[in-house]
This record gives sequence, C-alpha cells and structure tokens, in this order.
Amino acid sequence: MVLLTLLLDHIAITMRKRLDMRGIAGTLPTANCCATNLSRIARKQYLDISKGNAKEQIMTNHSISPTGEQFVIPEQSEYSDEFKRVTSLVEAARSEGKEIVVVMGVGFVGAVMAAIIADTVDKQSGKSGKFVIGCQRPSVRSYWKIPLLNRGVSPVKAEDPEVDPMIARCVLEKKTLIGTYNSDCLKLADCVVVDVQCDYTKKDLGNMRTGEAEMGALEATIKTIGEKVPSDCLTLIETTVAPGTTEFVAWPIMKKAFAERGIETEPLLAHSFERVMPGREYVASIRDFWRVCSGCNSQARQRVEKFLREVLNTEGFPLTVMDRPIESETTKIVENSYRATILAFLDEWSLFAERNGVDLIKVIKAIKVRPTHSNIIFPGPGIGGYCLPKDGGLGYWAYKHILGFDDDIFKISTTAIDINDTRGLHVATLTNDALESMGRQVDGATVLLCGASYREDVADTRYSGSEIVVRKLTEMGAEMRVHDPYLEQWPELEMQDTYPAPGHSWSRFFQNQDGLVNIRVQSDLAEALAGAQAIILAVPHAPYLELDPEKIVEWAGGPLAVIDCFGILDDDRIRRYIELGCEVKALGRGHIQRIKEEVKKQIKS
Ligand SMILES: NC(=O)c1ccc[n+]([C@@H]2O[C@H](COP(=O)([O-])OP(=O)(O)OC[C@H]3O[C@@H](n4cnc5c(N)ncnc54)[C@H](O)[C@@H]3O)[C@@H](O)[C@H]2O)c1
Repeated sequence: MVLLTLLLDHIAITMRKRLDMRGIAGTLPTANCCATNLSRIARKQYLDISKGNAKEQIMTNHSISPTGEQFVIPEQSEYSDEFKRVTSLVEAARSEGKEIVVVMGVGFVGAVMAAIIADTVDKQSGKSGKFVIGCQRPSVRSYWKIPLLNRGVSPVKAEDPEVDPMIARCVLEKKTLIGTYNSDCLKLADCVVVDVQCDYTKKDLGNMRTGEAEMGALEATIKTIGEKVPSDCLTLIETTVAPGTTEFVAWPIMKKAFAERGIETEPLLAHSFERVMPGREYVASIRDFWRVCSGCNSQARQRVEKFLREVLNTEGFPLTVMDRPIESETTKIVENSYRATILAFLDEWSLFAERNGVDLIKVIKAIKVRPTHSNIIFPGPGIGGYCLPKDGGLGYWAYKHILGFDDDIFKISTTAIDINDTRGLHVATLTNDALESMGRQVDGATVLLCGASYREDVADTRYSGSEIVVRKLTEMGAEMRVHDPYLEQWPELEMQDTYPAPGHSWSRFFQNQDGLVNIRVQSDLAEALAGAQAIILAVPHAPYLELDPEKIVEWAGGPLAVIDCFGILDDDRIRRYIELGCEVKALGRGHIQRIKEEVKKQIKS
C-alpha cells in the first residue's frame, strides 16, 4: 500500500513537471501541502494517461472559479467528515433557537437568497433567527462556489454594493451562513429553498417550438430532498418552472420518496418564484419586492407564508397567496411572456419606422406621457437576460408535456420569443448596408461592438442580443472587436465550447465561429476603435450616452459606419456624424435619412 502511494505520488510529481511546462500546474496543491490530494490527483492522472487524454481528465478533478483559482473536488471518502462538520454547526445553531434552512443551488439567485435569509433577525428578539446552509452539487462547473462561500466571498459577481458585505457578514461575523457539497445536510433542515436552474433549450434559432424544458437538475434535486428531509420540513421551490411542475412533477417525486421511507404524511411542498433583477438593486429586488406564493396543501401554504413573512420585507411589499402552485407558477410565466411580447411587438413598428422616415424613439416618448402606456419600451438588438428568452417556452412546453394538451393555443407568446431571438440579425444587415453605402465591404471589415451585456449598466451577458450581432457579422466575414466598460470576459464567446453547457452555445446556429474564442472584451475605447470601419452602439451603458462624434472619428482614424441599436444617439450627434463623413444607421430610426438630406443641402448651399 505504502509502495503504491509512493508510486502514485511519483507519477503525480512527474505529471506536475509536465503540467508546469504547459503552465497548468501553478495552482495545483504541492506534495508537501496536500499529500492526500496529490495521491488522488496521481491516481486519476494514472488512469487518464492510460486512456491517452490526460489533460482533459485532470481538469475534471478540479473546479475552477472565474478568477482562475482551482479547487479539488471532494471524494466520497471526505463526505462523512463534511457531514460531521455541518452537523456540529447545526447543533450549536439549534441550541440558540435558530431554524435550519438549506438553500439548494448557490447560483445567481440562491447565493443572494441564502444571505438574505441568514441576515434575518427575529422581529421580537432582534437576534438572528435562521442558520443557512448553501448546498451546491460538487460539479466541475460549480463546486468552487462552496469553498468561496465558506471564506465569506460571494460566488456571484453583482453590481449591488450590498451583496459582498452581506455575505461576508453572515459567514464571518454572524456565523449564520455556511456552504456544503454534501446533500446529507438536508437531513438537518426545517426548511429547504430550491434555487437550481430549469432551462429551456432551443433546437433552432427563431423557432422556439422545437425546444424543450430541461427538468433534469430540478427533478434530481427534488428526489434527493424527498429521500433526505425530515417529514415536517417545508420545501419551497423558487426556481422558475413549467406550470404544473410543483404539483404534477415534484410532489409525486417527493411522495414516492416518502412512501419508500415509510413516511405516511404528505410532503410539505410550496412554490414562490423569484423576481430578482441583476444590477445595483439586486438584494432589494429579492428582499424588498412583492412576492407570490402557494402550497400543495393548506399546511404547506401556511408554512410558506410564515417563512416568507419572516425573511422578506412583506410589510412594505405585500405577499400574494394563491390557491394552487400552478397559479403561482403561471403568474411568473405570464408576467415574463407579457414583457417579452410588448418588446417583440415593437419589432414590426421598428421596421415600419425605418422605412417611412419615422423616429420610433420619439414615438415611444410621446406615448409614454399617457400614464396608461408608461411601460412601453424600445427593444434593443434582442431581449436577453436569463428569464425572458426562456420563460414563455416553459409555459408552451408545460401545456403539452405536463398538462397533456395536443392543440396549439399559443400564437403570441411563442412568436414573441422567436422575434426577440432573431432581432439582432437585422443589426448585421444595417451594418452591411452602412458599410456598402461608404463603398466598403463587410467581409474583412473591422467592426467594433460597444456593449456585450443584455441591458444597460450591468455586467450580465446571458442571452444578450449583442451575441447574435457578433455571431452573424462574424459569419459574414467581419473582424469583430468588443468593448464593454463593465465586463472583463464574455463567457458565451470565450468559452463557447463549454458555456453555458457543452453543445448549448449559440455558435451552433452560425458558420465560421471558431475564432470567437479569441475575442477579448476591451476596456479602452480609443484603443478598441483604432482602424475600425464600423462601430455598433449595442447597449445604452452610461459611458456611451455622451460620446463625442469628433473623438470617435479621430480614434477610428477617419469616418466610419455608425450603427445605433438602442436610440443612444440624439439628433445633434447623428447630424454631426453625417457632417464628419460617417454613414449612420439605427434600429427604428427612419428620420436619419431626413437628417442626411438636410446635411447634404447645407453642404451644397
Ligand atoms: N438570474 C436571474 O436573473 C433570475 C431572475 C428571476 C428568476 N430566476 C430563476 O431562478 C432560478 C435559478 O436561477 P439562477 O440564475 O440562480 O441559476 P444558476 O444557474 O446561476 O444557479 C443554479 C445553481 O444550482 C446548482 N445546481 C444544479 N443542480 C443542483 C443540485 N442537484 N443540487 C444542488 N445544486 C444544484 C447549479 O450548479 C447552480 O450553481 C431559475 O429558475 C431562474 O429562472 C433567475
């Protein structure tokens, strides 16, 4: 045995040398600091070398955080010690009268929700009332979130200045928040909050009907919960789900698991969806915001209402309690389909405006003064974020696959998603037209896209319309560059082989995408613009609103095509660009032709 360990450690050291040569091993543990881990790595490497795919397999033993820190994924033999650690912390918390809450999935929503619950103080005693365990499956993609959380470091990057101190306070000072990878912590829970993802995967671009809901993570989580929680534990699903999921998918899974354990009572299962908005109000959009909830039976309904009143600001933002979970689930899907629809509906009017000398931005401003129509908004190059592109799909899919209907009642919600998903393609057409008007070709042209996020002043690129713009123009042969003042990375491009998951990148809908892994988001606009033949203002980030046309032309080294996707340019700036010899095109802004003719007349006279 000793000999085997020595041999394996020797293999590990040899491999380390090889990896050093490839620049990979820097953050792997050394033999002195972590012999057990090294033996483990060695064992794995030995197997992998024999399979001839050492590098890939070594990395499956690690989970790498966005800053590049590597964490060794725990082995089964470590699970029992981890459970002992969690149990002793739970016992101490219970002796102080705290309720034990497990949050399953510490992603964008779960990490912040976990901190909000951990920060809760009992309204009467003023003392911390909850001890929270953030539980994350130890996958290559996500395990790193647990060690980071246990250091008091937020696993999510948020613009909201409240997130980082809140997580640090709860973990390090109040000691009301921990992370674990061992789902046995569910055995200790009074309440479980489920914040795992439930995606809707599209098979075609512009036809969401061929897509399907990905229920795997949610179903697996619910099964584990059913197998482990105490019979009187409340399980609250916050994940946005296909309507019917809580009652007709999750509840039966839990009931079966309870029956197998000989538990005769019904599981206490509830639903209350999140309305979280990334950005500076991240925490407030969870804690100080209106909630809707429901339970599978009256006891679950009462328990979820009590829990939400304890942890959220329901005095300032009243709670709506619905009769059945399918109603709470449908509320989320309808409110996001409504939003997606009012954005998609303006796409046809945007084209109408472009072709008939109308500025849709001014039309929208004029409509907004009517209080009844004040939420009308201009759609940019697409409708991104995690929720709006998928939620209508969950409703469409549920109608057929959970609720069992065959007829086709969905016309508007489905079409809206298809329109929003493909709106960015028109930006590529406008760019091509603008370049042609200047006697240039898109093929081989250097084009700078400004703004990769899905909306202004956030560092969130999920399903952003800008991605479609970059992909289409790349397919057409343009050399794309990207600038964004809020982002350091664009994972959808730079990690397109594995992000958001292998085979799920939008690259699959376009040709000629391989080179996009080399795109780097630039932060110096003057540098990014040097030599560019076109600039696309894709997102109204604050720093883009006041850009000076003289400077842009100077930095580019001469007149260029200017494409405005979001009503960023006022008429004075449009005029100035044209005077400087630029060609200006914009989504929904047909009046540009009029400005162009005025400038021509001025020059003649
Ligand atoms: N992010 C938003 O802006 C937003 C807004 C409103 C609602 N929502 C909804 O909230 C839900 C969660 O979204 P998110 O953005 O936090 O997703 P996310 O992908 O950031 O996080 C989900 C987490 O769950 C983990 N997970 C998956 N399976 C697990 C398992 N079996 N056990 C433990 N952990 C597991 C994943 O590893 C990941 O860390 C979704 O339904 C989403 O639609 C999100």
